[in-house]
Amino acid sequence: MSELETPPPAEGGRTHWNSRLGFILAAAGSAVGLGNIWKFPYITGENGGGLFVLIYLACIALVGLPIMIAEVFIGREAQRSPVGAFQALSKPRSPWAGIGWLGVLGAFVILSYYSVVAGWAMHYVWLSVTEGFSGKTPDEIGALFGSVAGSGSISTGWHVVFMGVTIAIVLGGIQKGIERGAKILMPALLGIMLLLFFYCMTLEGFGDAFRFVFSPHADKLTAGGALEALGHSFFTLSLGMGAMITYGSYLSKKADIVSTSITISILDTVVALLACMILFPIVFSVGGEPGEGPGLVFIALPVAFSQMAGGAFIGAAFFVLLVFAALSSSISLLEVASAYFIDERKWSRKKAVLFTGISILLLGIPSAWSQGNAENPDLPGASRLFGPSMKKLTEKVFGEGKGHDWLGLFDYLSSNWMLPIGGLGIALFVAWGVGGEARERGFKSGSKFASLYWGWVSLLRYIVPVAILAVILYKIGIFTPDAGK
Ligand code: PHE
Repeated sequence: MSELETPPPAEGGRTHWNSRLGFILAAAGSAVGLGNIWKFPYITGENGGGLFVLIYLACIALVGLPIMIAEVFIGREAQRSPVGAFQALSKPRSPWAGIGWLGVLGAFVILSYYSVVAGWAMHYVWLSVTEGFSGKTPDEIGALFGSVAGSGSISTGWHVVFMGVTIAIVLGGIQKGIERGAKILMPALLGIMLLLFFYCMTLEGFGDAFRFVFSPHADKLTAGGALEALGHSFFTLSLGMGAMITYGSYLSKKADIVSTSITISILDTVVALLACMILFPIVFSVGGEPGEGPGLVFIALPVAFSQMAGGAFIGAAFFVLLVFAALSSSISLLEVASAYFIDERKWSRKKAVLFTGISILLLGIPSAWSQGNAENPDLPGASRLFGPSMKKLTEKVFGEGKGHDWLGLFDYLSSNWMLPIGGLGIALFVAWGVGGEARERGFKSGSKFASLYWGWVSLLRYIVPVAILAVILYKIGIFTPDAGK
């Protein structure tokens, strides 16, 4: 019998992944998402590439990877969703369960706006195949993005479609929904990316892009940028909110967690670097600016597509890829929220997924109405409320010029606060809160990396907490390494 046909071992009646490959693809699918393709290239561009990328790689290896192993360990050991897992591994009413709660809340917050951004990518697939970008001037393309993101009804429409597809996949369950989805989405994604990458190798900007990303220059890097690299390593690896605990809980207790975590981290990193080596050659070839910001994917790229031969096809392929990547991440976010109701409240999968999915859909509507242009006198009331008025209100908290619209606030709160605090809690829990014997057995079982055990524990005990605390203090403004720059 091949690995794929092996029936899942039923430990305590819990459904498990069908195969090791299924778990790796699903977890890598969760990790690879808008964070890799939309966010990583633009923050790399803003921070001048080079050294920033090197620091990011160090953060993945020294902070991200140890936390990922810790999360998968917690899930596999407890065979429960995050809230229950912390209780199962400590005491029933343990305060550690608070980290699980924070994760469930994080799933609601992140997915509600993630789905809106993914919806824009869906709209861009539609635009690429219907009207395309050729014949449009860069200004027109810039205005186009403003009108898509700024339109509450377009954004809401695609948000509903994207959430609908996410709900449909998660309703199918672990093997028939998530695992099967990942087995189609992940290879398709890698295939499309490689095709685009080979195309970009032929562009004249490829050499410049390569030097920009890989030669360790420190032109624009600040301490703030280095800390941004750390924060991003959480988001991109789906850490700090229980996604990997949840996926780990569908692993059999015999599964090797160390080498799978290493594989997932490498896949995630390769995709992030590939995304840079697709975006920057295009940007450099058409004389664009790498530090353009969040519009890089939605503005600079369509400008490039409008000018290149075969741009209509490449553009459509690229946005399809972005939607696939977002989808395999959004299903993990919905699964975290649903697993709580399935495991702890004993709801049926159908009831749990529909309830959480629809709640998240509703929670996302203000995000969809938050990107309108404040200068527009005809801006609908809802757009004004969740956009400019929200910005003014939050300026009172964050200071002049630092306000956020609804979508920006949810992004800020989740990636800058919830994930790092959750990650810190997870590291401390595994380093100090669980029994040493269970931890050692868990790390070593079936692993060829058993000799790295103490290295892992030391990273969790010392390096990870110090690094995360530095980020938190920096965010609060107590630790200001860039002062005077
Ligand atoms: N890792 C995903 C990305 O890079 C986002 C995500 C964060 C998914 C947290 C699940 C949990 O886009």
